[in-house]
Amino acid sequence: MIKMNRAEWEVRASAPSQAFLLGEHAVLYGSPALALSLDRRAYTEASKTPRGEILIESELGTYRERDGKILEFNEDLSKLAEGLKELLRKYGLESGVRLRISSEVPVSSGMASSASVSAAISKSIDGLFNLGLSVSELLEAVYSFERIIHGRASKTGPACAVLGGVIWVEWCDGEMVVSGLGYRDVPLAMACTGEPSRTREMVQGVSKLREEFPYVHGRIVEAIADIVRKGREALERGDLRTLGSLMNMDQGLLYSLGVSSWSIERIIWEARMKGALGAKLSGAGGGGCVVILHEDPEWIAESITSARISFPVKVSRRGASLERTEI
Ligand code: MEV
Repeated sequence: MIKMNRAEWEVRASAPSQAFLLGEHAVLYGSPALALSLDRRAYTEASKTPRGEILIESELGTYRERDGKILEFNEDLSKLAEGLKELLRKYGLESGVRLRISSEVPVSSGMASSASVSAAISKSIDGLFNLGLSVSELLEAVYSFERIIHGRASKTGPACAVLGGVIWVEWCDGEMVVSGLGYRDVPLAMACTGEPSRTREMVQGVSKLREEFPYVHGRIVEAIADIVRKGREALERGDLRTLGSLMNMDQGLLYSLGVSSWSIERIIWEARMKGALGAKLSGAGGGGCVVILHEDPEWIAESITSARISFPVKVSRRGASLERTEI
């Protein structure tokens, strides 16, 4: 392992994670989606290396390649390496890159940890090579990482990671369009099952259900789309009670799409019995975290007993950004 002092890294960047408030899965079939950027962030430090050399280090392990030959392999990091090389190719960058990744975001948790890591990487490459990427170029870069990592993906995670604040995703003329709705404080806690949420598998399961029951699947997606639109209105007028009811309804429909689980339901029901205004899975489901809307997020995070870990979260105003390297 190559050790470097903090000062030796040329650039440091970070990006927020997400809570999927409403519309996951359905967003892949034409529904809008509503999500929040969260203050738990992923960080990347980056430096140039000689051409052909890629080195990525994180708590997950090390990935290293030289001139196309893999010297150390790690499956998760190899996907990031693929995304990184695509980014370098896209912008005609001939240098190699060394990255060190750290993250406050639980992995495979429905908090879009891959999007926040990808956004931190893309922002650090932007800074390292002075590319001056626009917000939409940065979004496109993160989205291309997401497609490599998950196969089919919406732009929700990338938008949370790049823009910060409240995120709205909708379809216009067959294109997924994202917009930032600004900053809004929402009292939330995340409670995690401790079981991984495998996005690719969950997305495939929902697609299979669509093949078997196209009519029912279509009606469920339409119902979720209505819930998401009403959820946006409720959020914008600060009506948390209605927002919570809509989250509960959305959870019922996600359950019928087959993406809930016993561990998720147990946390949800405990949260509701302890006064949650709304509770639902966040992201792909099958495991991962439950997002809880509660007037006292600190209290509910402490008092939930059925989760592996739980913590209050704050909406992040700040999207992907460069940080001072000596921090
Ligand atoms: C995964 O976090 C949420 C899905 O809707 C996929 C996506 O939006 O990329 C299942």
